[in-house]
Amino acid sequence: MNDFPRLIEFAFPLKQASLDSVHEKNVRHGHISTLHIWPARRPLAACRAALIATLLPDPGDPEKRRELCEKIAGTVEKEIEKKKKPDGSIVEREKEVTKGGILHWGRETENADTLEWFRQEIRKAYGGRAPKVLDPFAGGGAIPLEAMRLGCEATAIDINPVAWFILKCTLEYPQKLAGQKRPLPEFILEDKEFMEAFCKAHKIFLPAKHAKHAKKGKTAQPQQGDLSELSRHFACFAGNIPEADLAWHVRAWGRWVLDRARRELAQFYPTYADFEPIQKNLRPFERQPMRLVPLKQDATPDMDALNAEFSEEYLASETNPRWVAKPTVAYLWARTVTCKNCRATIPLLKTRWLCKTGNRRVLLTMQPNADRSGVVFGIAENVPIAGGNATQRKAYEKQLGAGTMSRSGASCPCCPSMMTMEDIKLEGQAGRLSTLHTAVAVDGCNGKEFRLPTQAERDVSTRAEKLGEEVFQSIPFGVPTERIREDAKRNTWCVQYGIDQFARSLRNVSFRLSRAS
Ligand SMILES: C[S@@+](CC[C@H](N)C(=O)[O-])C[C@H]1O[C@@H](n2cnc3c(N)ncnc32)[C@H](O)[C@@H]1O
Repeated sequence: MNDFPRLIEFAFPLKQASLDSVHEKNVRHGHISTLHIWPARRPLAACRAALIATLLPDPGDPEKRRELCEKIAGTVEKEIEKKKKPDGSIVEREKEVTKGGILHWGRETENADTLEWFRQEIRKAYGGRAPKVLDPFAGGGAIPLEAMRLGCEATAIDINPVAWFILKCTLEYPQKLAGQKRPLPEFILEDKEFMEAFCKAHKIFLPAKHAKHAKKGKTAQPQQGDLSELSRHFACFAGNIPEADLAWHVRAWGRWVLDRARRELAQFYPTYADFEPIQKNLRPFERQPMRLVPLKQDATPDMDALNAEFSEEYLASETNPRWVAKPTVAYLWARTVTCKNCRATIPLLKTRWLCKTGNRRVLLTMQPNADRSGVVFGIAENVPIAGGNATQRKAYEKQLGAGTMSRSGASCPCCPSMMTMEDIKLEGQAGRLSTLHTAVAVDGCNGKEFRLPTQAERDVSTRAEKLGEEVFQSIPFGVPTERIREDAKRNTWCVQYGIDQFARSLRNVSFRLSRAS
C-alpha cells in the first residue's frame, strides 16, 4: 500500500478552488451538469483540486507546498467587472479571479501541458501505475470524471438507477464510442432543422451547389436554400445515410424523445396566444381576449393558422399587433387546508410575490370569494417600489406580498381564525390536504409573464392525475410501498404531513412534475 502524507493534509488552494467552482456554476455549454440534473453535484474544479491534493504526496516544506498549490490552482487576482443595470447604467465592481492553474473551466487547452505534468506526478506517486479511485456515492459523476481526466482508474457506484445511467453516459459511453462514426438513424433525415445544422457543421453541400461555389472561388459557406435542399436530398436517398459521431446521435435521439414527449404532453400544456405587437410601441390597438392556439401534426403551436388573416407584409413589421403564442413554462400550485372554523379552503402560501427581479414586479392578489368558501386570485403587474430606506422597503415588500403562512400556522383569508402547524399536520395525516392552481408562468416576448389558469388548465390536472396512476401501474415490479423512515434530523418533514410512504411522495413529485414542470 502506498501510504505517505498527502498534500491535502497540509495545504489546499481553497480560495482558488472556490472561485473556479463559482465560475463553473454559470457554465452552460459542454459541462456534464447539462446532461442531466442531479442533486448536490460537486463542481469539477473542487473535485479536481481535492483529487490532486489527495493523490500527490506532501512536498514537505511550506514553500514547495505553496508552489504546488499555485500550480494546481493559480493565483488570485483582482479584476474590474462592468455590469449593466436594468435602468441602462453601468456599474463597476471589483471581482476576484484566478490566473493560471488547471481548475478553471474553459482553460483546458492552454493548460494541457500542466495537466499532463500532474498525470505523470500522480503515476510516479503510485510506482508508475494509475491509482484506483473509488467513489461509492458517485451521483452525477464529478469525482470519477475528474479522476479519469487525471489518468486514474475510476470506479463509480450509486444506488439510484437514474444516477447509474447518468454515470454510464458521463464516464463510459463517451470513452467507448469516442472517435467512432455510425450512420444516423433514418427518421432524422426528415428533420429539416437537424439536417440543416448537421450539414452546416460538416460543410456538406449538394454537388451542384458546391460546384457553383467552387467556380466562383468562394469558400464553402452553407446557405439556407442549399441546406433545405440537402435535407430533402438525404430524405430521398435513404440508402445514402450520413455517418455521425456520438454527439450527433445523442442530438438525433434527443429530438426523437422530445417529439414523443411533446405529442404526449401537449394535452396537458395548452398554449394560449395574446394579441399584441412583438416589439412594444406606443401605437394604440384593440385588445382581444387570449385565444387557444391550434396544434400542428407534430404538436407544435400552429401560429400561421391563427395569424392567417394577416398579410406577410403586415407580419413583417414587428410593431404591428398579431397573435403571439405564449407557451407555458410552469403551473404554480399551492397546497390547501380546510379552515377548522368556517370550512373555507385556505391556500398555504408563504409569499404572494410571483416575480420581483429588476423592474418586473408581479404579485398574486387574493380575495375571499362571494360565498367565502375560498379565495379568488388575481395578478397585479408593475407593482410600484415603496420609498424609504432599504430596511423600510424590505418590511413593506414583505407585508405587501405576505401569504397565509407564518411560523405559527396559516391564517384563514375568510374568517379571523388560524390553523396552527399542529392542525395542518393532523389534517395532512388524515389525508385532507389538497392543492389549488394559483397561476401560470408563460414565455412572453420579453421574458416570463404570469396569468391566471383557464378552466381547461384546471381540468387538465384531473386528467394528469389519471395518467399518473396509469404510469405508476406500468412500472416494472410495481411502485415501492414501504414507509419512509424518519431520520434523526427529521429531514423527512413530509412524514409529519401524512406523506409517509415512498410511493406517496413519488406520486406527489411526479404529479407535480407532470402538472408543473
Ligand atoms: C451528494 S450525492 C453525490 C453527488 C456527487 N458527488 C456529484 O458530484 O454529483 C450522494 C449520492 O449518494 C447516493 N447514495 C446514497 N446512499 C447510497 C448507498 N447506500 N449506496 C450507493 N449510493 C448511495 C445517492 O443516490 C446520491 O446520488
